[in-house]
Amino acid sequence: MFALAHKVAIVTGASSGIGRATAKLFAEEGAKLVVAARRQVELDTLVAEIEDADGTAIALAGDVRDEAYAKALVDLAVGRFGGLDIAFNNAGSVGQMGPIPELSLEGWRETLDTNLTSAFLGAKYQVPAMVDRGGGSLIFTSTFVGHTVGMPGMTSYAASKAGLIGLTQVLAAEYGPKGVRVNALLPGGTDTPASITNAPGAGPDVLAFVEGLHALKRMAQPEEIARSALYLASDASSFTTGAALFADGGVSINRT
Ligand SMILES: NC(=O)c1ccc[n+]([C@@H]2O[C@H](COP(=O)([O-])OP(=O)(O)OC[C@H]3O[C@@H](n4cnc5c(N)ncnc54)[C@H](OP(=O)(O)O)[C@@H]3O)[C@@H](O)[C@H]2O)c1
Repeated sequence: MFALAHKVAIVTGASSGIGRATAKLFAEEGAKLVVAARRQVELDTLVAEIEDADGTAIALAGDVRDEAYAKALVDLAVGRFGGLDIAFNNAGSVGQMGPIPELSLEGWRETLDTNLTSAFLGAKYQVPAMVDRGGGSLIFTSTFVGHTVGMPGMTSYAASKAGLIGLTQVLAAEYGPKGVRVNALLPGGTDTPASITNAPGAGPDVLAFVEGLHALKRMAQPEEIARSALYLASDASSFTTGAALFADGGVSINRT
């Protein structure tokens, strides 16, 4: 039995990394997908892979900082597939890093817009569609950074991602009575293009350092985070709402 049979889902940040792996898993589990990111070619490749595996997906490219795009994604899900049950609001970026005196207001705003305001815009249009459907599952990709671990140089990223946990709690309380569950997913270091371990010039020493921060002494593969997203999306988590779910390899509790 497929965990997401007859469900319709939006996945943002689907052109790469965690979002791409999650889109593929959701499609394998029977969901009909609207996949979102800025890069059209990567989205088209993903849709072709999903269709080759007998899944159903449609791509709409755009910028999650744009309110019209947030609305268009929901309109597409409702128009093409008849409603919306799941939204994995996962697009994000680390943004400008460094000591605070060197950070620009423009860089701060860009990170907040990409990681936090995008979530507000997504939820604004996704929640009513889920209420129309009698319930749903809203998921935001947060992080341990700024929640359990203070990482020097990541001021705007931490603030934006911690903001998602506040958003999660309030929306969970506001829409629990309507059957909409709202949760944050907190991955640990994950092997994606966004990871500092894949930054230009990052060598084995950087990888060893990041791996060593985790109790499991390794980084996650995006498919592992996707399985946690599937848990939150599916009825397996039917009594979980307002949670900050760690899928972080123990980076939050590790002291070795
Ligand atoms: N990798 C980690 O170690 C880690 C750990 C904790 C949390 N996270 C979080 O996990 C999420 C996914 O990250 P990832 O590691 O999978 O990174 P990634 O491979 O770089 O993917 C990021 C995705 O976000 C999309 N995106 C970024 N800015 C966007 C914008 N303005 N509009 C639309 N789409 C946008 C990108 O698509 P386009 O470039 O095509 O627009 C891409 O699909 C992020 O929220 C990240 O903060 C990652």
